[in-house]
Amino acid sequence: MRVLTTLTSLALFSALAACSNAEEEAAAREAAAMAAAADSVEQARAMFDPAGFDTVTWETNEDAIVRGSVVYSYSCARCHGRFAEGDGNFVSRGDTLRPPDMTVADWRFLDDRDGLREHIYTGTDHGMPNWGLEGLKYKDVDAVATFLIEGINREN
Ligand code: HEC
Repeated sequence: MRVLTTLTSLALFSALAACSNAEEEAAAREAAAMAAAADSVEQARAMFDPAGFDTVTWETNEDAIVRGSVVYSYSCARCHGRFAEGDGNFVSRGDTLRPPDMTVADWRFLDDRDGLREHIYTGTDHGMPNWGLEGLKYKDVDAVATFLIEGINREN
């Protein structure tokens, strides 16, 4: 009986040890991913040049919104959701991404167009891609920013 108990606790011990190793590895992987993401944000920040928007022109504001909706559906909706509520497929499939609802009436970028364009370009280290590094053109960054501010239904 005693032998059995010892064996059981040995098994339990090694199971726990394996578990904490796996946890440590997962934590190390996550830390490495976060560091890489932070590096990318830094790189994108270094590349970002607000003057890149100076030469962007649109025939009409409507053109910017229409182009922005195309960019949004190709590049953003998979995470942010079709209606920008933060519930795209990547997210609802149990991913760890947590994009905020961008349709709220007091959305933080509504009166900060410059900040919005820069945020889209540089991304974050919590899952928002660094669109500048992905090669999204200034004109398309501008378009999708216009779309997000003026082209989506917002709660009141
Ligand atoms: C891979 C998933 C993913 C894609 C694709 C993506 N985003 Fe994001 N986005 C996120 C996540 C996650 C956050 C929250 C990041 C954080 O908390 O740091 C975010 C945050 C944002 C924010 C800040 C919102 C707020 O209210 O603070 C904006 C603006 C934004 N994204 C715009 C875009 C645009 C525009 C595109 C397409 C060009 C896009 N995102 C594509 C995942 C994504």
